[in-house]
Amino acid sequence: MDGFTGLSYFAACRVLFVRKMVEPLASLHVAIVYGSRGKPMSSKPIPSPTSSARISFSEFIRDPAKVGSAFPATQRLVKRVFQRIDWAGMRVLVEFGPGTGRFTSAALARLHPGARLIAIEPGGEFFEHLKASLRDPRLCVVRGCAQDVKKILYDHGLSHADCIISGLPFSTLDDVVAEQIVDASASILMPSGIFAAYQMRKSVKPLLQRHFSSVRSSYEWWNIPPCHVYWASNRRSPSIASSAL
Ligand SMILES: C[S@@+](CC[C@H](N)C(=O)[O-])C[C@H]1O[C@@H](n2cnc3c(N)ncnc32)[C@H](O)[C@@H]1O
Repeated sequence: MDGFTGLSYFAACRVLFVRKMVEPLASLHVAIVYGSRGKPMSSKPIPSPTSSARISFSEFIRDPAKVGSAFPATQRLVKRVFQRIDWAGMRVLVEFGPGTGRFTSAALARLHPGARLIAIEPGGEFFEHLKASLRDPRLCVVRGCAQDVKKILYDHGLSHADCIISGLPFSTLDDVVAEQIVDASASILMPSGIFAAYQMRKSVKPLLQRHFSSVRSSYEWWNIPPCHVYWASNRRSPSIASSAL
């Protein structure tokens, strides 16, 4: 097989894989999580499950390493991540990688009326979907990358956050970028702030342990794929964090 034929064969296999395996799984996911009519079981204002599932797939197929999962988060995962978050005192929330907005919409339902939510998303289709489906004066969706969080906050007249929620696939991020993201996050969090991360693998844990003295963890099975959940707080001094590198 020459290079061109090999590539065409690979592309055809990928299309077949999506049609035969991934799309039926998406419908199953929607049916299990939202019920057979595709309506959310919760009354919270979340984006339509079918469009969320479709967008997750297309963004995942476009860039699997960046997106990490072909499925939107379940409400169970959202609940688990939120269980250690103090909503009453929160005035600035930052979200890394909101994707289809499952965490974003649930956060808006809990946030103080005067609070702000800065959601940072690089994916074009995710970004457009979030802008169109979540209209709330407290929300600002930024098309950008988590590593630029300090500048993004500054551009919005902010310097600190009370909480950061991260859906980033740390296992596929470049090591330097992953370090930059956690370092910048630790530096913008208020002393009582919390960094909450969910991901399939454990790769974010050592990074969090280097920058924060308290890292708690949990696991959520009811998500595709099941996810590790971490809550990091109490920033270590930057010299301790860099000496552990
Ligand atoms: C596992 S998905 C999150 C899915 C989301 N929880 C949902 O329910 O739809 C990971 C997200 O991280 C985003 N992402 C990847 N690299 C990023 C970066 N450097 N900065 C911000 N977001 C990033 C991807 O575009 C994707 O939306």
